[in-house]
Amino acid sequence: MEKFAFIIHPVHLKRDVARKYPVARFLPEPLVEFLVKKTDPKVVSHITGIRSKTGAEAEGWFIACPLSPRQFLELDRQFVYDKIIRCGKIAEEIGAKIIGLGAFTSVVGDAGVTVAENLNIPVTTGNSYTVATAMEGLFEAARLMGVDTPNATAGVVGATGSIGQTCAQMLVDRVAKICLIGRNAGKLAKARDELTSGATEVVVSSDIEQSLPHCDLIVTVSSAVDAIIHPEHLKPGAVICDVARPRDVSGEVARVRDDVLIIEGGVVSVPGDVDFGLDFGFPPKTAYACMSETMMLALEGMYESFTLGRNITLGQIQRVSQLADKHGFRLAGFRSFEEAVTPERIESVRKNVQRGRTGSSRGRR
Ligand SMILES: NC(=O)c1ccc[n+]([C@@H]2O[C@H](COP(=O)([O-])OP(=O)(O)OC[C@H]3O[C@@H](n4cnc5c(N)ncnc54)[C@H](OP(=O)(O)O)[C@@H]3O)[C@@H](O)[C@H]2O)c1
Repeated sequence: MEKFAFIIHPVHLKRDVARKYPVARFLPEPLVEFLVKKTDPKVVSHITGIRSKTGAEAEGWFIACPLSPRQFLELDRQFVYDKIIRCGKIAEEIGAKIIGLGAFTSVVGDAGVTVAENLNIPVTTGNSYTVATAMEGLFEAARLMGVDTPNATAGVVGATGSIGQTCAQMLVDRVAKICLIGRNAGKLAKARDELTSGATEVVVSSDIEQSLPHCDLIVTVSSAVDAIIHPEHLKPGAVICDVARPRDVSGEVARVRDDVLIIEGGVVSVPGDVDFGLDFGFPPKTAYACMSETMMLALEGMYESFTLGRNITLGQIQRVSQLADKHGFRLAGFRSFEEAVTPERIESVRKNVQRGRTGSSRGRR
């Protein structure tokens, strides 16, 4: 039996803490933040039943790193590292042979490098498979929406980050134009220079309001702690893959724009009869792509720090996609704001676009 661990943390502070401690729902947010900061990491569930197509089996543990996204970015860096490393030490003590970094545990600092240096087991951010599934989902959703992808303009929000830069590279030669969107002009220029642009035109923008309304396809993967994409930013017919956790797309978009398609990045079907022992808001037997990368490395017995730091190569994406095929991981259909995106829903969005409705006066729910 192969063994892994995966670090999770509350992404939506009160809601996620309340899944385990219902009283949190009634407490003020600053108090919940204060309490989680004081809480030590611990094992929150035992994951059983993962079985590869090859017959290999794995078990694992979710280990909670009690900090909110804002705390990961704003608290003293060493305090945050120490908390993540403590999670890794717990994983070592219970026999895990690899550990995956969930959400902001891989966003903070050097994206896992320091954490790995302080552990005796390998570490992976899971970002390679996150990129692979995000792009697979985006292109499939574009096809279903009838987007003319080769002539499309694609926007990448958070384009200077680990996942964003690699998503941009995967769009090259698939679309006519790519707009790299971020906050920092210097970093954007560097990201553009590092992109092998092929036949695709590449532009940069630090003005989301000005650039996003021109985009037919959007992959959004910033580390912003609050939503940054609002209803007025989107072109009718746009297809948006929101990989960020917490989400970059505001709930208001889902309520008032019935002429755009939003899908979540990286919802993956896990092989076997998996029981996660924890409700993280997904349908049974499905997981985030970053969790899935950790599981497939364990099933393969490939105990190495597969994705670490901010540079991800196309070779890594190819390798992780092969591992996914071999062990039976696959994209689990589309989801958006906790709901399945059905073919009927996609058809309805297409019809709304054809009718030339802006959707601004109608809700989809
Ligand atoms: N769905 C999944 O399975 C999955 C898996 C892994 C990670 N994630 C999520 O993916 C996101 C990014 O992860 P990452 O590893 O790529 O992080 P990263 O390397 O730190 O990159 C984040 C990027 O977002 C940019 N950014 C931050 N705030 C912004 C804002 N307000 N407007 C525009 N850009 C902004 C940063 O630019 P600056 O240089 O300006 O700071 C940076 O380029 C996180 O939300 C994480 O939780 C999801």
